[in-house]
Amino acid sequence: MSAEPINLESWRDLPAAQQPDWPDRAALDRVVTELRELPPLVFAGECDELKDRLAAVARGEAFVLQGGDCAETFAGATADNVRNKLKTLLQMAIVLTYAGRVPVVKIGRVAGQFAKPRSKPTEVRGGLELPAYRGDMVNGFDFTAESRTPDPGRLLRAYHSSAVTLNLARAFTKGGYADLRQVHAWNQDFVAESPAGRRYEQLAREIDQALAFMRACRADPEEFHTVEFYSSHEALILDYDHALTRIDSRTGLPYDVSAHMVWIGERTRQLDGAHVEFFSRIRNPIGVKLGPTTTPEDALALIDKLNPANEPGRLTFIARMGASRVRDALPPLVEKIRASGAQVAWICDPMHGNTFEAPSGHKTRRLDDVIDEVTGFFEVHQALGTHPGGIHIEFTGDDVTECVGGGHPIVEEDLALRYETACDPRLNRGQSLDLAFRVAELYRST
Ligand code: PEP
Ligand code: CO
Repeated sequence: MSAEPINLESWRDLPAAQQPDWPDRAALDRVVTELRELPPLVFAGECDELKDRLAAVARGEAFVLQGGDCAETFAGATADNVRNKLKTLLQMAIVLTYAGRVPVVKIGRVAGQFAKPRSKPTEVRGGLELPAYRGDMVNGFDFTAESRTPDPGRLLRAYHSSAVTLNLARAFTKGGYADLRQVHAWNQDFVAESPAGRRYEQLAREIDQALAFMRACRADPEEFHTVEFYSSHEALILDYDHALTRIDSRTGLPYDVSAHMVWIGERTRQLDGAHVEFFSRIRNPIGVKLGPTTTPEDALALIDKLNPANEPGRLTFIARMGASRVRDALPPLVEKIRASGAQVAWICDPMHGNTFEAPSGHKTRRLDDVIDEVTGFFEVHQALGTHPGGIHIEFTGDDVTECVGGGHPIVEEDLALRYETACDPRLNRGQSLDLAFRVAELYRST
């Protein structure tokens, strides 16, 4: 038990970036009161288990695969959508485990990823200026004054939508669907039409043979039948994540029980800001995004504030430098942190530093740039003798056309065909598998 209760209100005195301008504070207060009474979405013990897994990553013994939509939507919380996303994540994890020969910690950007930081607070279209879309947790995507007005009732919908999604994810990962003997079934709708699917099928055949061999040896461990899967989101809207913070009855310590892991975005990681303060008080495993302007001093100060006890697994740095910057911006950070003796897991977000606007006006990313950034990330860690601990990506299980490139290539002219994201462009299933095969090769060669 901790000696005195941890102050969970200290963030309120500090500037909180990227918060919505709620028009009706009383309505927000009513929602927060309701959220405080609702059951946890995850258990503190599960958060601790993930912290143990991430400690193994920090020690160089496991690899993180973290991914999902840039922004989940309420309409997207359907069985098909969640299943396709999980299927793709499981396929990527299998590729990494089998071809990369490394245990994979699977973390979805799911069941809570409903809020977005924006570069501008408003958006102008045809002379009309309205609040920017900040994610379904805050306002609607439609460009009307009504839809764009922040509505606190959406915090409750975000909670319920997260609960539905997490329930499905738990069923899929624990209820037999994620059984290793299903490696072919996950691919059935995919094989013929795509090079990544064919490559995966070959790997699935090898896994079948290995499983048959193990069964013949009477080895059939429980790990083959279910999968450990964790949820995560950017804890951006502090009123939401604070309202879902509970004191763990085992330890007397506070956990944000809206997800197993939460992270702080590049735009809200100010050392003297409300997000860092709030995160310093909760006991979940946490992440911080680090962009190319991060100095070693910034990173060390974040470590002091967020992981003063140097607890392995507590803090993950998610580097998102851009393909053209990773090789010069990342080494000073990794080097200084290694020299300080701080225990952090390093993972690479090769998405957010590589976004550009296509001539058609679509926000997009090139798979080649994504792969180049991951390659640079591996090179940096290899040169410094540190561990490239994982990837953090935006993807979907559907056949969208939002990023360009891949073995079944999407070109810029294709972007309009199926561009469905509510925010940043996501890799589709084939591009995600292409990336997984490449990362597995990189991992094997370290
Ligand atoms: C995101 O992960 O969608 C995001 C906004 O990232 P970042 O904070 O790295 O810009
Ligand atoms: Co994004």
